[in-house]
Amino acid sequence: MFITLEGPEGSGKTTAVSFAVEELTRRGYQIVRTREPGGTEIAEQIRNVILDKNNVKMDPRTEALLYAASRRQHLVEKVWPALKEGKIVICDRYLDSSLAYQGGARGLGIDNILSINLFATENTFPDLTLLFDIDPKIGLERIAKNKDREVNRLDLEKLEFHNKVRNSFLELAKRYPERFVIIDASKSVNEVQQDTLNAILERLCK
Ligand code: TYD
Repeated sequence: MFITLEGPEGSGKTTAVSFAVEELTRRGYQIVRTREPGGTEIAEQIRNVILDKNNVKMDPRTEALLYAASRRQHLVEKVWPALKEGKIVICDRYLDSSLAYQGGARGLGIDNILSINLFATENTFPDLTLLFDIDPKIGLERIAKNKDREVNRLDLEKLEFHNKVRNSFLELAKRYPERFVIIDASKSVNEVQQDTLNAILERLCK
């Protein structure tokens, strides 16, 4: 089972899922936790180029292609082998981030971005996508408070950009209702953690 976590900045998806991972491990499931962009050595190198705050000249299509390239490498080296071994792969961000950020917010078009990603992933879609939905205003405030978190090139975008990201994610949830579950990330940490675990367990029992 391939699970992806998506959402605007500061949605708390990483914290929310750590509880589910602990609980699932306790129940005997083998879990591989990973993230995008990155997750393997080559993919992390690509990540550094994409998120470097000095790369202000980066063209939007270059950005989209680099995300897709990093995704491909990560699938080949990490995700596909783990799925083959019957493990549950939980990945922080995947192709829907490209559709929402590059396709929607950057305006490159969701279908254009989908087509390069179908090529990159050989049509590998997640079985379950948890969308941690939050008003970007609240999300960005959370990030600003968290001093340990590094600020990246996309965090520096204006609120309007992040609102577009959120709306694009919600559009994607409508487009792919069979794999999307929306989690209200504005709730308390405990509630969000519980909703996350429930959504995963429900899918596992199907
Ligand atoms: P990261 O620090 O991992 O952010 P987060 O904790 O929010 O996941 O940085 C990843 C950034 O890259 C984030 O701003 C979202 C963006 N992104 C895209 O624009 N397109 C993509 O395809 C992916 C995977 C991420």
